[in-house]
Amino acid sequence: MARVLINFAHPALEKSRVHAQLLRAIKTIPGITINDLYEQYPDLDINIAREQTLLEQHDIIFMQHPFYWYSAPAIVKQWIDLVLEHGWAYGHTGKALQGKYFSNIISAGGAENAYQPDGHHGHTIHDFLLPFIQTAKLCNMHYAAPYVIYGVHREDISDIKEETQKLVQVLERLRRPEFDPGVITGLSNLSQLLQLPAQTQ
Ligand SMILES: Cc1cc2nc3c(=O)[nH]c(=O)nc-3n(C[C@H](O)[C@H](O)[C@H](O)COP(=O)(O)O)c2cc1C
Repeated sequence: MARVLINFAHPALEKSRVHAQLLRAIKTIPGITINDLYEQYPDLDINIAREQTLLEQHDIIFMQHPFYWYSAPAIVKQWIDLVLEHGWAYGHTGKALQGKYFSNIISAGGAENAYQPDGHHGHTIHDFLLPFIQTAKLCNMHYAAPYVIYGVHREDISDIKEETQKLVQVLERLRRPEFDPGVITGLSNLSQLLQLPAQTQ
């Protein structure tokens, strides 16, 4: 059974509409490890050994965060800079993460049609996620489809509730004993997992 780790990053959870609700729901799924980075490290003073041990203990790793300035809140960069050490995560002897799956669970204020080459933001979310995608590759991991919730500024509470239920279903499927994580590298949004035929889920 795949061991799932969620590295969660929200700098102002008390003001959050989307991630506060997602987090509450994810906490009810058995067997998923939630690592709240701002709670652990309010001064960004990351315990590298603790983080590396957590990574070693899991197979599928998500960075969950709101999409900020086409990227992530600051602690996510700090985490990547410090935790993915040369000789451990990459380089000749850096094989600790080999074969694991890495991705993002994100919410964006912009609508999906704004994240197109001819849309308001001029690029797809995948284009903006390139540093995560290539970082995963350099560390010998597979970048899996990200779970993207678009247009959250316009969503009301019932939309967010629906998105939350979908994400819970997706995460539950990842935890099924028969689940093949290879499936999630071929999707564009992890939410599409719910549309796949049962035998490949
Ligand atoms: C500092 C900051 C930067 C943001 N940058 C973006 C952005 O680049 N693209 C986008 O679509 N939304 C952007 N947003 C909107 C957030 O993604 C949105 O508010 C968040 O996903 C909502 O989640 P929450 O309710 O959990 O905070 C930004 C919001 C803030 C506060």
